[in-house]
Amino acid sequence: MNELDALVDGARAGFAQAATPADLENAKAQYLGKSGRITELMKGLGALSVDEKKSRGAAINQAKQAIEAALTERRQALADAELQAQLKAEALDVSLPGRQRGQGGLHPVSLTLERIEAIFGSMGFEVADGPEIESDWFNFTALNTPEDHPARSMHDTFYVEGGSDKAPNLLRTHTSPMQIRHAVQHVKRHRADLDAGRSMPEIRVIAPGRTYRVDSDATHSPMFHQCEGLWVGENVSFKDLKHVFNDFCRTFFESDDLVLRFRPSFFPFTEPSAEIDIQFQQGPLAGRWLEVAGSGQVHPNVVRNMGLDPERYIGFAFGMGPDRLTMLRYGVNDLRLFFDGDVRFLAQFR
Ligand code: PHE
Repeated sequence: MNELDALVDGARAGFAQAATPADLENAKAQYLGKSGRITELMKGLGALSVDEKKSRGAAINQAKQAIEAALTERRQALADAELQAQLKAEALDVSLPGRQRGQGGLHPVSLTLERIEAIFGSMGFEVADGPEIESDWFNFTALNTPEDHPARSMHDTFYVEGGSDKAPNLLRTHTSPMQIRHAVQHVKRHRADLDAGRSMPEIRVIAPGRTYRVDSDATHSPMFHQCEGLWVGENVSFKDLKHVFNDFCRTFFESDDLVLRFRPSFFPFTEPSAEIDIQFQQGPLAGRWLEVAGSGQVHPNVVRNMGLDPERYIGFAFGMGPDRLTMLRYGVNDLRLFFDGDVRFLAQFR
């Protein structure tokens, strides 16, 4: 094998060993670079005779072309390999199902509030909405709970700015302020009839919404929901309250296998007062009494604060816990799950 053939073979072997384009360019420089082997051979031509120059030059040129061809081939091979690797790395599985946009849904407590509104709506109750930042008057005083009344300590209250020093504003501790707010509006609308000694239409309203107390464990959250109910008229009785609440529970839980119990209790704004307990006859909670609402006949002082004559108008009120109702309906045992915002939990109610 002559010297030039050996040079070409060496170049081929060197190029074949280059694993990257950068390695290949280094290998190329050894042969075709400014001080590469071919360039050196070319420089040597100057010392030869014209005839020798011709034949030797042609031979070197041939070798150079062979090396260039080997280089181009190797460049192409490396480029192909790189493309293959890239295609492999970025491979798309077109048979995979597409990514779907997450589907939203109503929060379980919102579902309960909607049910409550629909059921009471079907029984002729309006739905009212009121402020979550409340004055001392509406939250306590108008509800027959004056300052220093011991019942105030039943509510560990979040006070906020505003109001007076003696009676600062607060985050409402219950939805009962809506009894006063709604009744006052109703009475205002029918003032002329009342002043003329005529009757006003009955007040029948529910007021669902957020309420706040300094309280936090598996069954208490500092923010929770209540739904107030108020029924005021000239011929309303405890029997009506029992009837309505009974109907509500059966419809809400879609079951006749439940019993209600009105257990004597105390609230400053009702007299007499009762806690409403519910007992399921079947299922995992069968036989246990579960408290779902406070209730009672609206206290005469509260009827007066509504702008009505307690000798003529009688009211019944209840305040229930939609969070508790949601837990019972779906069998959830920790209230905090509702407010953690974990979609894995919430998605189950979609
Ligand atoms: N507001 C009372 C509470 O939060 C519940 C209640 C409402 C009681 C209406 C009687 C009448 O505990």
